[in-house]
Amino acid sequence: MVSNKTVLFDSIPNHEPVDSLKIVTQQFDLDRQLAPGEAILKVEMLSLDPYMRSRMRDPSIETYVPPFTLGEPIDNGGVVIVLKSNNAHFKVDRKYYAGFTLPFSEYALVTEASNAFYTDITDAELPNETLIGACGLPGKTAYYSYKQLVRGKAGEKIFISAASGGIGQMLCQLCKMDGLKVLAAVGSDEKVDYCEKTLGVDRAFNYKTSDTRKELAAFGCDIFYDNVGGKMLEDVLDQINVYGRVICCGQIATYNSGAEAYGIKNTFQIVAKRLSFQGFITFELIPQKPFHESKYNTIEEEFMATIPSMIKEGKLDVKNHVYNGIEATSQAFLDLLRGDKHGKTVIQL
Ligand SMILES: NC(=O)c1ccc[n+]([C@@H]2O[C@H](COP(=O)([O-])OP(=O)(O)OC[C@H]3O[C@@H](n4cnc5c(N)ncnc54)[C@H](OP(=O)(O)O)[C@@H]3O)[C@@H](O)[C@H]2O)c1
Repeated sequence: MVSNKTVLFDSIPNHEPVDSLKIVTQQFDLDRQLAPGEAILKVEMLSLDPYMRSRMRDPSIETYVPPFTLGEPIDNGGVVIVLKSNNAHFKVDRKYYAGFTLPFSEYALVTEASNAFYTDITDAELPNETLIGACGLPGKTAYYSYKQLVRGKAGEKIFISAASGGIGQMLCQLCKMDGLKVLAAVGSDEKVDYCEKTLGVDRAFNYKTSDTRKELAAFGCDIFYDNVGGKMLEDVLDQINVYGRVICCGQIATYNSGAEAYGIKNTFQIVAKRLSFQGFITFELIPQKPFHESKYNTIEEEFMATIPSMIKEGKLDVKNHVYNGIEATSQAFLDLLRGDKHGKTVIQL
């Protein structure tokens, strides 16, 4: 037996999830006999992502992701090593990227139901945090949505919110490679510096100390890539150009607000300016054939064949915020929702 610290979903939050997660220490039998299809995993790293906030809900509320179950471990993506296996998909001593369903615990027992979510990454030659971040959900979200939905042209002006986060940092760089003009909104001066000096955006500003409307009026805006929603979206509706496009990726500003979410007052601008809005969920984009000319069958194949090697060659910058120890989970998640971190949030076990 070994001790196995685990993060349980303890209470449904009304606003910030300050008391919603609880660490317990359970016993885990590493010597157990495995039934067919089972494997024992040692967790090396866990991923925290904003959408996990919407899983902390009353299960009667339906949305695109399942709710967490009270009293059960929360789960998401991560990196694991296989310790023992009775499942041909999981090879002992090899490293796997878990896209989803990995319980927040130091050791995990999985069954064949997990196979589809785990990919062998033993030979990936990149740090775990990069495999989870730039090569994982946020990097893929940025790439798929940029190539399939933004489809920017050189010279177009794009405004990106939460621009230094996991998605924003990849998106800013993709846009600059194609010659778009990028305006980036971030929540600190340090992040402004990072966007301008490292990601190469044309202008970045701190939305907490600068006026978003003035920034938009001075820079111009053909496309808004929205990670935030709320008041910032309202500001954009008044400033975006006629026939502007809004790509709706997320609304992190509203996730803790519940019924008191900011009420946008100027939605008539959608009519007056003939705007188009496109929401998306990353998974539906994975199997899509690239809209642009490509030798790959799907946008995912193209991503896997290009982005990891560009990162290795130093052509794309990657910024992660690494917390140490599974005990840090609750604070790390609060930091993520408050913007008190810089880059993709991961937890090193
Ligand atoms: N559609 C999809 O399939 C899909 C997939 C993945 C993620 N998403 C969404 O995409 C968005 C970004 O995800 P991510 O993984 O890049 O997140 P992330 O790296 O965790 O970054 C989140 C950032 O949002 C900013 N933020 C938080 N509250 C804010 C507020 N009230 N106003 C403005 N900015 C705020 C903070 O940065 P600052 O310090 O700069 O404020 C924070 O660091 C989220 O809304 C997420 O839910 C959607």
